[in-house]
Amino acid sequence: MSKAIYVQPGGGYDKVIVGECAAAAPQAGEITVRLHASSLNYHDFAVVSGMWGPSEPRIPMADGAGEVVAVGAGVSEFAVGDHVVSTFFPDWLDGEPLVEGFATVPGDGIDGYARERVTARATAFTRAPQSWTHTEAATLTTAGLTAWRALMADDQLKPGDSVLVQGSGGVSIFALQFAKLAGATVIATSSSDEKLARMAQMGADHLINYREDPQWGETVRRLTGGRGVDHVVEVGGPATLEQSMIAARIGGHISVIGILSGLSGELSVVAALVRQLRLQGVLVGNRSQQQAMIRAIDANGLHPVIDRCFPLEAITDAFRYQESNRHFGKICLEF
Ligand SMILES: NC(=O)c1ccc[n+]([C@@H]2O[C@H](COP(=O)([O-])OP(=O)(O)OC[C@H]3O[C@@H](n4cnc5c(N)ncnc54)[C@H](OP(=O)(O)O)[C@@H]3O)[C@@H](O)[C@H]2O)c1
Repeated sequence: MSKAIYVQPGGGYDKVIVGECAAAAPQAGEITVRLHASSLNYHDFAVVSGMWGPSEPRIPMADGAGEVVAVGAGVSEFAVGDHVVSTFFPDWLDGEPLVEGFATVPGDGIDGYARERVTARATAFTRAPQSWTHTEAATLTTAGLTAWRALMADDQLKPGDSVLVQGSGGVSIFALQFAKLAGATVIATSSSDEKLARMAQMGADHLINYREDPQWGETVRRLTGGRGVDHVVEVGGPATLEQSMIAARIGGHISVIGILSGLSGELSVVAALVRQLRLQGVLVGNRSQQQAMIRAIDANGLHPVIDRCFPLEAITDAFRYQESNRHFGKICLEF
């Protein structure tokens, strides 16, 4: 038996307990992984906090990274000792989106990776980036792949393109890193001048404090000579989408990713229509996109930005810290 975190039905921090779970010997096509790290995402927060609590006891967390400790018959992709990272959709391996919602997602519809050991289909993992720690690798499953897919798969980013990233959370910091890797110009927003200064150090070309400049969509247009940006990595949701549509160029691409300001709101459809915007809903990405992202990371020596790590048992402290919005980049669990 090994240590595991369980969220009791309904969720809520008072429903989180430390328990144990077993990892069976791997059957054909399966691997057993000794997990060492996970990372926090807003979706995991929704499950753990009770916003979208589980209907049965659930091991939370979609992100997991660790070392392969046993390999079942027929598995040729991995060997004992390999460092691996989990995939968000164990069933969506390649191609067009196949999955609606979270029924098959670890940490929501099925048990996730807030545990020391798991036996799963080999396709539920990919290799981790070379020379990354387990903690670093655990940042990729949700936040890294969402940013990668939005920019590189849904809308092939080119050198010279312009990208707007919102705030300094996990997805946005990865989007900043991937956009700079691709030679794009990045406009970054944040509620904090201190965080904006850190984004400038990471290569952000233009900075906007969205608290001080609520009409930041027009500012983005001015900064781009009236054209607007090619891509918006939209994580704010109802409170930001209108400004994002002003910030985008005619025919620009808006990745509709986040719900940080709520689940619904009023939206002028006309703005999207007259400016021929391409709004693309995003739900993380598929396994082959994760492998492409990791190839790019390996080739460029990129590392994630990790704000703070907590032990597995302190998972609710970690989520309280995430709720404070004091973080910059990723918050992780190490075990
Ligand atoms: N659809 C998908 O596939 C997918 C995947 C991953 C995440 N998401 C969603 O994307 C969003 C971001 O996720 P995350 O993991 O990056 O979250 P996170 O790390 O918790 O991001 C929090 C940060 O977002 C910024 N923020 C908060 N409200 C904002 C607003 N109204 N406008 C602009 N920025 C705001 C703040 O940055 P400053 O402190 O700098 O202002 C805050 O620190 C969440 O809603 C999450 O559910 C969706």
